[in-house]
Amino acid sequence: MASAQAASAPLAGRRILLGITGSIAAYKAAMLCRLLKTAGAEVRVVMTPLAKQFITPLTMATLSKNPILVEFFNPENGAWNSHVSLGEWADCYLIAPATANTLAKMATGVADNLLLTTYLSARCPVVVAPAMDLDMYAHPATQQNLRTLAGRGVRIVEPAEGELASGLTGKGRMAEPAEIAGFVADLLDEKKKTLAGKRLIVTAGATIEAIDPVRFISNHSSGKMGYAIAGELAARGASVTLVSGRTALPVPPGVDRVDVLSADDMYEATVKAFDEADGAVMCAAVADYTPETVSDTKLKKGDGELFIRLRRTRDIAAELGSRKGNRLLVGFALETNDEEAHAQLKLEKKNFDFIVLNSLRDAGAGFRGDTNKVTLIDRSGREELPLMSKREVAARIADRIEHLFTR
Ligand code: CTP
Repeated sequence: MASAQAASAPLAGRRILLGITGSIAAYKAAMLCRLLKTAGAEVRVVMTPLAKQFITPLTMATLSKNPILVEFFNPENGAWNSHVSLGEWADCYLIAPATANTLAKMATGVADNLLLTTYLSARCPVVVAPAMDLDMYAHPATQQNLRTLAGRGVRIVEPAEGELASGLTGKGRMAEPAEIAGFVADLLDEKKKTLAGKRLIVTAGATIEAIDPVRFISNHSSGKMGYAIAGELAARGASVTLVSGRTALPVPPGVDRVDVLSADDMYEATVKAFDEADGAVMCAAVADYTPETVSDTKLKKGDGELFIRLRRTRDIAAELGSRKGNRLLVGFALETNDEEAHAQLKLEKKNFDFIVLNSLRDAGAGFRGDTNKVTLIDRSGREELPLMSKREVAARIADRIEHLFTR
């Protein structure tokens, strides 16, 4: 009974301060507020003056069942809207949508409205759900601001790819209200520290194999799947070492990242960390071949063809598999044909507990995107998952890891 109630009201007794800024995505804040309320939270809403142009305070007041705060003083009676007590009241300050402008002000400490002064005085976890046009999102200034905020502990619910208000298509659309509400629930759910005390390694991203000081051999892996897994395992209380090839991604909260470039570097870092670990998830796209010699100086072009001799790299997963003992080992397989047969072979050859198969033939699976479509295969069978966000796939993989630890 109690757990059924916890499942239906994961935010029972929680106080969420919802900050709304001036983006067209503000209309989704109405649904978000409803979801937070349905999940059991008490919600108060603070809006920037511009946000009122996109969604009315009346709508938000009705849904949150609380008056809306916009000004430093209540225009009716002159009472002071204290940003300090708002920040103290909240268990979580969720700013959704968060515009590029508000993120920039947060990153630099500008305090010219109530939403921002409250941010500066908030002691609770702060979550932002960015919403903007694709070029604004991709702009180095915005990316720098997001990194600054993440470095200060602000949690970011990444925007999705899709059609934007401008008519363009790309990354910048605010995450869906259900995903944001779920993110907040997970963040506040201390009871979910099911992997506390476990030390796990995740490898992620592409390796870089130098040809000379300028050129290299690599692949299209963005690292997103591995980073999502590292973040999910850390959120469940594991102590996570993320051995990462080159990516443009921020370090997930609570994760210890070791940066490497080549397959050889990744081998050394991972094998070393495995001694102390309870398990590893091998998500990196590791080069199988590397140039036999690396030129110290830039190779100059000649008239004829150029041949680069490659040697095999060491297989990190196979090495961990051979010294695994009772530790846990999870592998990945990205295939283009005879997918399941290839994945089965890798499962056995590398001594994985289970393998996550994605096929480049499936739309929405594989490199770079925010979604994936995978099949989980172990010695007792296969579980084919539908197309879902990489964050959800990470949660399903973490569920299995949790289950294997409690066998
Ligand atoms: N892997 C690894 N070290 C390597 C190569 C791969 O740890 N040097 C891991 C990957 O992280 C992944 C799994 O092994 O978990 C992939 O298996 P692999 O057989 O190497 O896949 P491919 O490189 O795609 O192999 P193939 O060319 O045989 O398809």
